[in-house]
Amino acid sequence: MDGNGRWATRRLLPRSAGHKLGADALQRLVRGCVQQGVAYLTVFAFSSENWNRPAEEVSALMELFVQTLGKETPGLMAQGVSLRFLGDPAPLPAQVQQLMRQAESTPVSEPRLRLNVALNYGGRWDIVQAARAAQAQDGEISEQSLARHLCLADIPEPDLLIRTGGEHRISNFLLWQLAYTELYFSNVLWPDFTEASLADAIADFARRERRFGRVPSKASSKGLRAA
Ligand code: FPP
Repeated sequence: MDGNGRWATRRLLPRSAGHKLGADALQRLVRGCVQQGVAYLTVFAFSSENWNRPAEEVSALMELFVQTLGKETPGLMAQGVSLRFLGDPAPLPAQVQQLMRQAESTPVSEPRLRLNVALNYGGRWDIVQAARAAQAQDGEISEQSLARHLCLADIPEPDLLIRTGGEHRISNFLLWQLAYTELYFSNVLWPDFTEASLADAIADFARRERRFGRVPSKASSKGLRAA
């Protein structure tokens, strides 16, 4: 969800105003995913490296997580959206951790969309914690054992990665899981991302030919897993 800071700076607003509008854009994206039959959505809300931002911005983001999770979780569940978090929760403020636990423990029967929120997450961190768990619990590190201990081990790897804000990089997101994911880069700054922007990305995805190193097969948007 890149581009919040630039969106705000261009309007002579504090960067936190861009993040606030970014939370609204996430609501739109969730609605769009539900409408378009996307089964899983994983969003990068705060990376392991984002702690290096100015303290003022970090605390504005934490406050935004508290407000957004507190306010929006019941509405999400009413839409049939289940919530789950990935990353290391320990350094996050207690209030954020409590809202995360609360959202995760509220059952949504037969969710239409499974929303995964990466908070204090890094792809390298995920691989290292999975390798440690694989060694400790399975006594070996193989592709299979490591994959079993990753944060999202129980759900399919993403079909499509959408990065907004015009940058062409992965920035330590789901490094392992993106091995065969289709990449889509959009110049739209995240607060301006709409349901129509999502439809464009899905239409582009539907034109891709995915081979996974094997025989050709046409991509389809039904049951799409997006990141
Ligand atoms: C990156 O844009 C965005 C973030 C670090 C924060 C994203 C968080 C939200 C949209 C809030 C979501 C809320 C919940 C509860 C999940 P940037 O600041 O790096 O933008 P820039 O590249 O223009 O500076």
